[in-house]
Amino acid sequence: MTDTIRAITVEPGQADSLSVEEFNAPVPGDDELLVRGLALGVCGTDHDLNSGGYGWAPDGHKRLIIGHESLGEVVSAPEGSGFEAGDHVVGVVRRPDPEPCGACARGEFDMCRNGKYRERGIKEIDGFGAEQWVVHKDFVVKVDDALGVAGALLEPTSVVAKAWDQVDRLGNRAWFEPSSVVVTGAGPVGLLAALIGKQRGLDVHVVDRVTEGVKPTLVAELGAEYHTGEFRDILDSVDPDIVIETTGAGPLVGAALTHEHPYPVICLLGIREGDKMEVDIAAAGKRMVLNNTAVVGSVNANVDHWRTAAEVLGKADHDWLSSLITRTVPLSRFAEAFEHQDDDIKVLIDLQS
Ligand code: BGC
Repeated sequence: MTDTIRAITVEPGQADSLSVEEFNAPVPGDDELLVRGLALGVCGTDHDLNSGGYGWAPDGHKRLIIGHESLGEVVSAPEGSGFEAGDHVVGVVRRPDPEPCGACARGEFDMCRNGKYRERGIKEIDGFGAEQWVVHKDFVVKVDDALGVAGALLEPTSVVAKAWDQVDRLGNRAWFEPSSVVVTGAGPVGLLAALIGKQRGLDVHVVDRVTEGVKPTLVAELGAEYHTGEFRDILDSVDPDIVIETTGAGPLVGAALTHEHPYPVICLLGIREGDKMEVDIAAAGKRMVLNNTAVVGSVNANVDHWRTAAEVLGKADHDWLSSLITRTVPLSRFAEAFEHQDDDIKVLIDLQS
């Protein structure tokens, strides 16, 4: 192992401040694993970090090492930790708040109540965008090394596993035997939500704007149906029991909330601002009351969701998962990972080149 490592950093609040810097190689503490970073996934949150609109540096620091969609290989692990050198692992993103609040005290840090949680690569703790990183043994999950770099999809899969857990909890407040789900957005989160829908034996429909390219193909390969066009018409024709909305687009959220269907469960996963539109809130509320509509917003994931996500990826078609990774760029050219290209689904940074 080398004495210095490269890592991708950002100055939170400062637009276009991403750069690669050198650091002393990290030294693991008693309960920590030392991990060689293999790959890093880039998502909307990383773009927000780079635009200066999101993110917090660690206390007393100006810059933050980014990266929350990790994949690495264990170099060393504490004895009895259940990990050993060579294992492929992914680091959990969120840490409980220090007080802790009632939810964090019970391991439900994804449901933190006081907002003092921290997140690696996002909020107050350095992330995994480095050639080497260390991680506490309780906040890391093994992934099947047969997945190769597709193991880097574990983080978005954990977010989606939590979303499905929320759907179950809301659905199961009364008799619930759903047969269909509509997923909006054929990005990584939408496609992984569709994957879980298929693994559950549901009739899965994915809605996106693009009419050709890799997205329709990936949806077809999953055995799901791809739709483009007017979302309200799609909802009318499919009439789903569940909607998982991953885009945050106002017209899609609005249509999902006001669709007429008995006992629908709607899970919102997308974040976007600025879609101002006129909605008759009272009429929407009336419809939701009369239909027993359940709507839940969902963010992040706790350790149980990460384990579920590892099972989801383990039993998925590995070739299909690999085709979600549409580009991999070397660390030395990391900036290219932040340039938009049509047909991008998941872009990875190769941390060893
Ligand atoms: C990450 C979550 C995180 C959220 C808010 C998302 O991109 O996947 O783990 O909780 O951003 O910071």
